[in-house]
Amino acid sequence: MTDPNHFDLRQGIVDTCRQMNRNGLNQGTSGNLSHRIPNGMLITPTSLPYDRMQPEDIVAMDFAANYQGNHRPSSEWRFHRDILRARDDVNVVLHTHSTFSTTLAIHERGIPCFHYMVAVAGGNDIRCAPYACFGTQALSDYALKALEDRNACLLGHHGLLVTAQTFEKALWLAMEVETLAKMYVHALAIGEPPRLSDAEMAQVHEQMKRMRYGQAPDLDGVGDVPRASPEPKGAAH
Ligand code: 13P
Repeated sequence: MTDPNHFDLRQGIVDTCRQMNRNGLNQGTSGNLSHRIPNGMLITPTSLPYDRMQPEDIVAMDFAANYQGNHRPSSEWRFHRDILRARDDVNVVLHTHSTFSTTLAIHERGIPCFHYMVAVAGGNDIRCAPYACFGTQALSDYALKALEDRNACLLGHHGLLVTAQTFEKALWLAMEVETLAKMYVHALAIGEPPRLSDAEMAQVHEQMKRMRYGQAPDLDGVGDVPRASPEPKGAAH
């Protein structure tokens, strides 16, 4: 029977938040995380450090913004709610102020296709949404636009936002984007790097799709090579 309190998802939110801190993706009370439930979401409470957060502290909120719990929801409930409502391909919304993504966002710069891994966010770039004050509807509107056909975007003068189907994929994608941001900031030290062409990026998207790249079995339970009839050695991919 389904647990009406979604204890496993609450624990998953706590575990993922703590992992964000361990990975260096987040610190203090910055950042927030949500997971879809029927007609709404579970979301981190506002201003509670992750190392003190327990499953019962997670707030349940419906899409009309009614909430239940001992705490107020994250100040960013609007963009979590709006993304989950608009995108049925998304179960998890993760937001951090990770250092290198935020460094680019401070300059109102997105991440161009200077490296092929930019494709893991779904397109040929990772956009930076214009600045709007945290917790506002304007920020949510800008975020949703920057996420069109993408699973990640930067938020101007603020941080990073990623979407995924599972906690594991959200953490993985946040780490990938943060690493790309770090590489881009380093590359900029010796000038604006050349970009991959549209044709080169189209090939990358095709290759990733064909190989189910970034879809490791431990991330979504589906392998990239059929297990029953493995391809001969040397011919894989
Ligand atoms: P909350 O503690 O309200 O989630 O705020 C943190 C944050 O990062 C705001 O953007």
